[in-house]
Order: sequence, then C-alpha cells, then structure tokens
Amino acid sequence: MLTGLHRLTSGKKEMESKRARLDRFISVNTGINRKHVRLMLAKGRVRVDGELARDIDQVVDEFSHICLDDKVLQANEASYVMLHKPVGVVSATIDDKHRTVIDLLEQDDKESLHIVGRLDLNTSGLLLLTNDGRWSKRLMDPEHKVGKLYRVHLQNPLTPDYISGFAQGMYFEFEDITTLPAELEIIDSYTALVTLYEGRYHQIKRMFGRFRNPVIGLHRISVGNIVLDNNLKPGESRVLTPKEIAL
Ligand code: URA
Repeated sequence: MLTGLHRLTSGKKEMESKRARLDRFISVNTGINRKHVRLMLAKGRVRVDGELARDIDQVVDEFSHICLDDKVLQANEASYVMLHKPVGVVSATIDDKHRTVIDLLEQDDKESLHIVGRLDLNTSGLLLLTNDGRWSKRLMDPEHKVGKLYRVHLQNPLTPDYISGFAQGMYFEFEDITTLPAELEIIDSYTALVTLYEGRYHQIKRMFGRFRNPVIGLHRISVGNIVLDNNLKPGESRVLTPKEIAL
C-alpha cells in the first residue's frame, strides 16, 4: 500500500537552488579561465542585475541577470503559479496514465516549473508551481512552520477525540517519525478542517485511518497565507501576485 513512499524524496533535487560564485559562473558558462575572468571583473566588464560587478566573491543565482560586455550570459525570470487542481489529475510532470498538472497550464515556461507540495490524484485544491527553488524550499521546510489547510470529508462521524489525536502527533512506522502537531477543527459530523505543518505521504488519509475513518473528499484551501483564488475553476491557473509571492 505504501509503495509510493519511495517517491517522498523524488522532488528534492529539483528544489535545490542554483547559487554560485560569480567568477565561477562566468568561467563555467564561457569557458574562460578564472584568472582571466577576475581581470574582466576588475576592468568593469561584468554587470549583474544592471549593476557593475567587481567582487569575485559575489554570489549569483538562477535569476540573476548577468552580462559580459554586451553579451547576456543569463536572463531567467522567476515564475510562480497557482493551480486549482482537479480530482483525477496527477501531481507530476510526466505520467503515462493520467493528465498531469503541467498539461493544465498555459504558461510558456511551464516545463521549467516544479511542484511545491504534491497532492494525491483524488485530492483537489491549491497547488503551487515555481522555478524558484529557494522559494519552494522555504514553503515546504517544516522548520518554517508553514500551515497547509485542508477541508476533509469523512465516511463516518467525527468525535472530539480526533482533535487530541491530531494534536499529539502519530507515529508512522515506515518513515520512523512522529507527525508534527496538527490542528483539527470539526465543522459538522462528517467535515473537518485540518492544518498540517509538513507533508508526509498520504498524511491526512493515514491519520484518519488511525480512527478507521476513510477520507472520501480532500481539498487544499491554502498554503501559508496563499489562499486558492475563488475565481479559479478546477483546472484553471494564474500567476501569483507580488504580494502572494512575498507572503
Ligand atoms: N494528505 C493526503 O492524504 N493527501 C493529500 O493529497 C494531501 C495530504
């Protein structure tokens, strides 16, 4: 049942950010040796984000705009997208059976985006995608305590002891971890709001599984302060506003 647990680490590589020292970046991208690159820097031939760059220790990342004389060495734009993921679409970039979330996007640079916190095939709601590895890492790192809010529909009635069960955390034998305290609010007998501060494989389904209560509907409402836009129908997406990115 838990075979997909092995996918837990699969997104890690794509989330690493690409930071490098400026002299190294130029050397790798032009084939010019580093000694020569340093001379070029000293002569004021390099610009980073429009500013003269003379410091060899300056660190650049994948979104730094870098020019050597009139030649643009790098000009990547950061992209941030929210998608209303429908049920039945897979949170992956390639899949031979199902439509993927990337198939739903209209952005020209969609192939360069990675998913920030996957949702299961039968989960709907807010899915964030970006090409900015540092941004996604901050959102997903449990240390930053970014809450992910879900609306959950259950097969059997809820009872108040669910609240303490979620708050105490649950031991997951496969990963040998205890889940972080999670918040559960009972909305009505069959509906709860759950806030998680991490993203374990099938976490909500497994947690309700401890109460032998199958999840029959799961929808993500928000990630931190970024809330799914009510105007987006399932399958629709839009770019994030600068305010949402900063949140
Ligand atoms: N927990 C689950 O079980 N599935 C999801 O898609 C998200 C959280």
